[in-house]
Amino acid sequence: MPNKLGEFTVTPWEVKGEVDYDKLIREFGTTPITDELIERIAKFTGDVHPFLRRKIFFSHRDLNWILDRYEAGEKFFLYTGRGPSGHTHMGHLVPWIFTQYLQEKFGAELYFQMTDDEKFLHNSELSLDTTVGFTYENALDVIACGFDPEKTFIFSDIEYAKTIYDIAVKIAKHITFSTAKAVFGFENSTNIGMIFFPAIQAVPCFLPSVLKGKNVPCLIPAAIDQDPYWRGVAREVAPKLGFYKPAQIHSKFIPGLGQGGKMSASEPETAIFTVDPPELVHSKIMRSFTGGRSTIQEQREKGGIPEICPVYRYYEILLKDDKDVREVYCRCREGELLCGEDKLRLSEVVQTFLKEHQRKREEAKKTLEKFMVRD
Ligand code: TRP
Repeated sequence: MPNKLGEFTVTPWEVKGEVDYDKLIREFGTTPITDELIERIAKFTGDVHPFLRRKIFFSHRDLNWILDRYEAGEKFFLYTGRGPSGHTHMGHLVPWIFTQYLQEKFGAELYFQMTDDEKFLHNSELSLDTTVGFTYENALDVIACGFDPEKTFIFSDIEYAKTIYDIAVKIAKHITFSTAKAVFGFENSTNIGMIFFPAIQAVPCFLPSVLKGKNVPCLIPAAIDQDPYWRGVAREVAPKLGFYKPAQIHSKFIPGLGQGGKMSASEPETAIFTVDPPELVHSKIMRSFTGGRSTIQEQREKGGIPEICPVYRYYEILLKDDKDVREVYCRCREGELLCGEDKLRLSEVVQTFLKEHQRKREEAKKTLEKFMVRD
C-alpha cells in the first residue's frame, strides 16, 4: 500500500500511528509554511490566525502563486469538503473555521463538496439515504462556522451530479488505473465506484472556472490526508484541460481523546461530536488519555508531557491567547498542573465553545437552503 510511511499510515481513508509531519512533507513533496510566508499572508489579512502561528496549518502547495495572483487583482475561490459518514466532530471543524477566516479576509467564494457518494461506496454499512442525510446534518455545522450565504455553495455529489458528471468524465479520461492504484492503493477487490471517485473529488477544483467561463485560481484548505487527490489527480489533469493547478494549504490531524491517532467517528468515546450534550462531553474529556505520569508524585517531580497530550492539543485549538496556551504548557511541564484540574478546565472551555456552536447550528436550519446548490 502506498503512503504507508514506516510506523504511521496516512491515506484519505486511514490515519494511524504517531504522524511525523516533516517526513510527510518530504514523502508527499509539499512545502512547509515558513515564518516568511506567514508574514506575507499577514500583509493581506492584517493579522496571523492562531492556527498558522501554532503550525496547525503547516504545509502547502503554490500558496505564493495564489498570493501573486491575488496581488495582481485575480481573486481565488476556496474549495473544501466533507465525507458525510456520520455526525461532525471537533476535528472536522478545524479546517472549516480556518476556511471561514480565509473567506472573510480575502472575500473569496467557497465551494463545499459533500461526498455522500464516496462514503456510500467506501462503507459497506451505510446506505445512500443515510449519507445524503448526513450531508444535511453536516451542512448545519459548516454554516454554523459563519460562512457568507452570498458567497458559499454547499452541494451533495448525488444531488449535483448532472453538473459534476460532465467535468468528472473529462478528468477521468486522463487518469489510468495504474496511476489510481499507485496514488490511492486500490486493489483488485476495490469496487469500481471507488476507482472512479477521485475524478469526482477533483471536479470542484475547476467547477467555478467552468461556471464562469474563465480560469479562476483555487485554494484548498484541508487536512493533509486529502493530498493524494490534488497531487495525483487534480494537479495532473489541470494543464491537460487548460485549467490552473489548484493550490493547497494543509492542516495536521486533530487527535482523539485516546492515545495516538486522529479524532475519528469510528471511536465515538474518544470523539467530541457537535451534537453531544454537555454531560457527555464532560465525561468523555474526564476519561481522556493525557501526557500525565502514572502517579501524582511522579508527575510533581518530572512534570507531564504536553507534546503527546490531547488535552493540551485542544487548548492549542481553542484558546485565543498564546500566553494562556504557553502557561498551560509550562505549568504542566513543571509538574504544577495535574491532569484532573487540566481536564476540568478543558471541559469548561469545550462546553462554552459547543454551546455557542450549537446555538448557531440551530439558527442554520433557517438559512440552510440559501447555501445549498443542486441541479
Ligand atoms: N474526501 C473527503 C472526506 O472523506 C471529503 C472532501 C471532498 C474534501 N472534497 C474535499 C475534504 C476537499 C477536503 C477538501 O472527508
